[in-house]
Amino acid sequence: MYLKNKFFIFLSLAMLLALYFLITYSNKSNASINLNTTDNSVIENGKKIYADNCASCHGVNLEGQKNWMSRLPDGLMPAPPHDETGHTWHHPDRYLFMVTKHGIEEFIGEKYPNNMPAYKDILSDEEIIAVLSYIKSTWPTKIKEIHNNINSRSKR
Ligand code: HEC
Repeated sequence: MYLKNKFFIFLSLAMLLALYFLITYSNKSNASINLNTTDNSVIENGKKIYADNCASCHGVNLEGQKNWMSRLPDGLMPAPPHDETGHTWHHPDRYLFMVTKHGIEEFIGEKYPNNMPAYKDILSDEEIIAVLSYIKSTWPTKIKEIHNNINSRSKR
């Protein structure tokens, strides 16, 4: 009887520990990916990162490549705009972060030839969050609000 009780105490403790790690881990994986449109130093930094890394394809003014909705002669898509005329704001923070860091194929988990580079060896996580925060900071208030709603729906 004594031994049996000891075993159950041990089992409960092990389960509590597992639960603790599960909660800590799942909180962490969401907490780090939040675009920040209120901190000017983040946005200024993101603006520089954008000019150096993204503007060549996505446009100096986030306008995208010419005729971005039509496939190029090689069958690939041109770079879409990151302003309110594109579809960047249709996606939650996490998608934008993962696509920029790992590339589209890695994120969707299937073959999809495209011209979007993966930035995991070029930019740090903070730099990726900064550049995406800069992009979001340029959107009209209404679009920012819609994007906030997309985020809260996707994080539930
Ligand atoms: C060499 C050109 C090129 C560069 C440089 C580039 N991109 Fe892209 N990007 C693309 C193309 C092309 C697509 C569309 C790919 C497709 O759908 O086929 C794309 C798509 C994206 C998307 C997905 C948009 C959506 O609505 O699904 C994001 C986010 C993105 N780029 C962010 C960035 C960021 C941030 C940078 C700079 C750090 C950057 N890109 C630099 C070419 C580029």
